[in-house]
Order: sequence, then structure tokens, then C-alpha cells
Amino acid sequence: MSFVITGATGQLGRHVVESLLAKGVPADQVVALGRDEERLAGLAALGVATRKVDYADTAALAAAFDGADRVLLISGSEVGQRLPQHQNVIDAAAAAGVQLLAYTSIANAASSRIILAGEHKATEEAIVAAGLPHTFLRNSWYIENYSGQLATYTEHGTVLGAAGDGQVSAATRADFAEAAAAALLLEQPQEVYELGGAAFSLKELAATVSEVTGAEVTYTDVPAEELTKVLVGAGLPEGYAAVLADADLGLGRGDLYVDRADLEGLLGRPATSLAEGLRAAL
Ligand SMILES: NC(=O)c1ccc[n+]([C@@H]2O[C@H](COP(=O)([O-])OP(=O)(O)OC[C@H]3O[C@@H](n4cnc5c(N)ncnc54)[C@H](OP(=O)(O)O)[C@@H]3O)[C@@H](O)[C@H]2O)c1
Repeated sequence: MSFVITGATGQLGRHVVESLLAKGVPADQVVALGRDEERLAGLAALGVATRKVDYADTAALAAAFDGADRVLLISGSEVGQRLPQHQNVIDAAAAAGVQLLAYTSIANAASSRIILAGEHKATEEAIVAAGLPHTFLRNSWYIENYSGQLATYTEHGTVLGAAGDGQVSAATRADFAEAAAAALLLEQPQEVYELGGAAFSLKELAATVSEVTGAEVTYTDVPAEELTKVLVGAGLPEGYAAVLADADLGLGRGDLYVDRADLEGLLGRPATSLAEGLRAAL
């Protein structure tokens, strides 16, 4: 069976390719897509086939999907442009007659009100409209969204957020990737997986940061407008800062909370904990 992974040059995608190989898929049955030539070369060194493909290039997509059995569409990173890009992938997958289109979506995509969820929901709807056999891998937040900020947390002694007491079912990219590989290998995966690790509030995040680093870090809850201003002050573009603050509001509502054990089920083990994820980043 042949597998095509889009966004394979990204952080999640590279983990998916490695997970497929670790699960015994022969390298010559994996095709890795992306644009970055250096990272494509890194993937080629694993023995898999690589193709340089932009989501705007419908001819390149058609060529890449020729003969593919199963495709994993890893959501693109160009927020606001993702739906037309994903639509090109869906059209190419439908034209190639693939057996399965897997898509990395967002937790609770059907009901989530966070801004980032809009393109995911629309992509899921486009896949259903195309009539393709599918599996939606609805990932909650990455633990790396937090572990990447350890230095900032300890420098300021605070985790700043606008999420109140809301809980997020974050998990590591590696775990989400391993779960995606596991789903791709199931004869008949579920149509929807709600994927998340053990849930924590941002107050619990701060306590875990303190425990892992030894520094005293507390949670400071601020209105979303203030969080946006702080993020802009730290150098983020205004639109992106507002999207991140909006995601915190969604976290507060429970939009990133997952109450199903789908991730553990696909992994066949508990997901990596927040403390382990933070320690790995130290
Ligand atoms: N759950 C979360 O917390 C969370 C956080 C951030 C992002 N996400 C979503 O999850 C996705 C995967 O995460 P990640 O960490 O692996 O992101 P990433 O490292 O930024 O990787 C994004 C991938 O998408 C590819 N891509 C972007 N635009 C493309 C285009 N126009 N044509 C072809 N390929 C394109 C990139 O290819 P090149 O690099 O080769 O150009 C790269 O392989 C992201 O793209 C985003 O949709 C989720």
C-alpha cells in the first residue's frame, strides 16, 4: 500500500513519516511532499520518495497522487489561504481515486468557535462533499506551543493568558503524528478522531513549569485585548496576535478540550504528559 504525506517537510509531517517507517512500512511505499528543498533532502535520506509540491500547483499534486492508496493532508500553515489550498489537494485526491484521505483537523472542529477552526471545518465539509473515504484527525493544541515558551515563562515568572480556568487537552506533535500513522494503517479507521492528551488549565501549566524548571511561575489571566497588545509588543504581527488571543478565549470555553480517549487508543499507550513534554524541551 502506498502513502502520500503532504506537509511532510513540516515538524508534524516529518514525525509522521518516521512513525510510518517505525511501524514497518517499507520506505519505497512512502511519498513525502513539501516545498523546502533542504527538508525534502532530509526526508529522502530516510529512503522515502520526495516531491516538491506547492498546494497551488494542481499539476504537481496530480502527479504526486498518481497511484497513491492513502493520502494524509496535513493542514497548511498559511492561515487564511488554507481552504483553496486544501481544496486543490482534495480535488487531486478525488481525481486519483485514493482509498482514504486523512486530514489533520482541529479539536471539536464541528462546534469550535475559535477563528482557526473555521478553515478546518470548511476543509472537512469539502472532503465530505467530494465523497472521499476519509478520517478526520482532530488534533488539540501541541504541548510545544507551551514548551517553546519556557524561557519566557521563567524570565517573567508568569504564564500570561486569557483562558480563565478552561482546560486544554494538549499533546506532543510526536504523539499526534504517531496516532496519524496508526490511523493510516488501520484497515478502516474511524471517520472522526478527537485527539488530545491529559487536560490542564493554564494555572496548572504554570504549576508544572515551576515543578519542572524550579523557577516560581504563576498564571496571570488578562482580557484578550490586553493579551493581544502584549503579543504585539513582543513582536508578533497584530492579526496573528489577535488569532492567538482568540484561541485562548476558545480554550476558556472548552473548544480545545477533548473528552475522548481516541489518542490513547491509537497510540496503544497513554499520551506523553505535559511534565514530560516540558522536560524534553528543557
Ligand atoms: N495543533 C496545534 O497546536 C497547531 C499549531 C500550529 C499549527 N498547527 C497546524 O498543523 C499543521 C502542521 O503543524 P506543523 O507544526 O508541522 O507545522 P509546520 O512545521 O509549519 O509545517 C507546515 C507544513 O505545511 C507545508 N505547507 C505550508 N504551505 C504550503 C503550500 N502552500 N504548499 C505546500 N506545502 C505547504 C510546509 O511546507 P514547506 O515548509 O516545505 O514550505 C510544511 O511542510 C500546521 O500547518 C497548522 O495547520 C496546529
